[in-house]
This record gives sequence, C-alpha cells and structure tokens, in this order.
Amino acid sequence: MITIEYLKEEHLPFIEEIDLTCPHKPWSPAEFKKELENPIASYFVAKIDDKVVGYGGFWWVMFEAEITNIAIHKDYRRMGIASKIIDKMVEKCKDTSTSLLHLEVRESNEGAINLYKKMGFVQDGFRKNYYNNKENAILMTKEIKID
Ligand SMILES: CC(C)(COP(=O)(O)OP(=O)(O)OC[C@H]1O[C@@H](n2cnc3c(N)ncnc32)[C@H](O)[C@@H]1OP(=O)(O)O)[C@@H](O)C(=O)NCCC(=O)NCCS
Repeated sequence: MITIEYLKEEHLPFIEEIDLTCPHKPWSPAEFKKELENPIASYFVAKIDDKVVGYGGFWWVMFEAEITNIAIHKDYRRMGIASKIIDKMVEKCKDTSTSLLHLEVRESNEGAINLYKKMGFVQDGFRKNYYNNKENAILMTKEIKID
C-alpha cells in the first residue's frame, strides 16, 4: 500500500538513493536538511511498506505555491505515486487557502509534462535557455478551488 507522509530527517538517505535514479542534478542532503526547517516549505514522501520510493515538495508565499521538486525511484514509476504526492500538495494548498500552484519543467521532460497536464496544470509561460544547459523551461500552473 502506498502512503504519503511529511518528510523527516530519517528519510534523507532514501532521497539520495531516489535522486541517483533521476536525470536531474540532485539537491545535497544539507540542502534538504535546511528545507526541513524552512517555514514556507512542505515536503512529502511516498512509502511502500517502510521503503521511501518518492518525494516532492513546494514553497508557498501569500496564497501561491511553487513545486520545487518531485521524483520517484525509477523502479516505482507509472504506479500513480507522483499523482498521489501532487494530490497531497493540493490538499495542503486548500488547508492554507493557497489557490495557485506553479511549477517549471524542462521542455524535454515529456513524462513530467504529461503528469502535470493529467493533474490539471496548464501551461502559462515559457523561459528560453532557462537551464544551465540552455534548455527551455515550460511554466505551468494549477488553479485550486478553495471550498
Ligand atoms: C515524472 C515522474 C515524477 C512521474 O512519476 P510517476 O509516479 O511515474 O507518475 P504517475 O505514475 O503518477 O503518472 C501519472 C500520469 O502521468 C503521465 N506520465 C508519467 N510518467 C510518464 C512518462 N514517462 N511518459 C509519459 N507519460 C507519463 C501518464 O499520463 C501517467 O498516467 P498513466 O500511467 O495512467 O498513463 C517520474 O518519472 C520521475 O521521477 N522522473 C524523474 C524526475 C523528474 O523528472 N521530476 C520532474 C521534474 S519537473
């Protein structure tokens, strides 16, 4: 069974392991440790039994939030885990009356772009040569209805 919970320090070694299976430049354990104390950040992990298989998080300021990263271990992809983490982020946004959830994604990252579209994100911007390797960024936003 997949469960989602808040990131804790004890999860950090799993995060490093997950990052090794991803193409992006990972954050260092020290950077993640700092995030645990960041009052505007929320990070979640996905677990199967006791194993952490994915993580994702966002920062929020003044009723808007931005996803900073989301990654699933390569052996556990296409099982709906990233979708569950995004659902949890949306729930947290609702709890804090945050109505806009933003993100940026590499233009070549088709899998992630498909995931975000499926989760209701819409492209609302484009940044040319945004990444270190000059790759373009797609900006996307999900509007969240606050009950
Ligand atoms: C992108 C990523 C987070 C998706 O995680 P995931 O747990 O596999 O995603 P889900 O299982 O929730 O996928 C939901 C839907 O997104 C789309 N999707 C996800 N990965 C896809 C892929 N590789 N190719 C095409 N569509 C994809 C599909 O529509 C999928 O639904 P389906 O499986 O029923 O067809 C994962 O591939 C990953 O960690 N990649 C490396 C890190 C990364 O690129 N992070 C994003 C940075 S912006």
